[in-house]
Amino acid sequence: MKKTIRTAGGLALATLLLAATAAQAQAQITFRNVTDGSALDLNNAREEGRDTPGVKQFLETGKNPYNEKPACLKLGEDLMLTACSACHGHYAEGKIGPSLTDDYWTYPEGKIDEGLFSIIFGGARAQMGPQYLSLTLDEMLQVMAWVRHIYHGPVEAADWMTDEQRKTYKPWSPDQKLDVPAGATCAP
Ligand code: HEC
Repeated sequence: MKKTIRTAGGLALATLLLAATAAQAQAQITFRNVTDGSALDLNNAREEGRDTPGVKQFLETGKNPYNEKPACLKLGEDLMLTACSACHGHYAEGKIGPSLTDDYWTYPEGKIDEGLFSIIFGGARAQMGPQYLSLTLDEMLQVMAWVRHIYHGPVEAADWMTDEQRKTYKPWSPDQKLDVPAGATCAP
């Protein structure tokens, strides 16, 4: 009897510890809705694509590890066409929703990956609804990487870029070909 109780207690403790670790992984950064500042609840995210290495790294650092990773860009391009282009245009040049590829931001938060993610996950005004039901967290990072890749504004305004990316930056144009090495997969 005593033994059973102790085992149950051990189990409960293990469950608690596990829950604490999971909560910690998500609590590194509080992502906020750009229109009202309310905290976004990442528990609303779709089950699949939640804890890929890329998502884990992003939730800890707020920086998208898929930026400029060719295999991720290809996936992001496809996602943009299905999930965003109807409103933002084929090359996100602007249509019902604004251009996402110049240096003007309605929500300046979008100039860093943390903010761009918050806009996509939590939505903004008008037709820009929250996307957490249509895209997985991993897919959001893929489409974000594509949005960054097709940027063609001045490099000084590209707050998300690493020093390395700034050095090699070339404004994007539709005739640029994306070279994805054979067998490459999307990973940090
Ligand atoms: C149904 C139409 C619609 C869809 C689909 C849509 N958007 Fe939007 N988006 C808008 C509108 C309209 C706005 C302007 C909202 C505002 O000003 O509050 C907007 C605003 C934005 C902004 C803020 C831009 C800025 O200048 O601050 C970003 C970033 C964005 N959308 C990204 C995306 C991405 C990425 C997708 C696809 C995953 C997407 N949107 C899908 C209509 C849409």
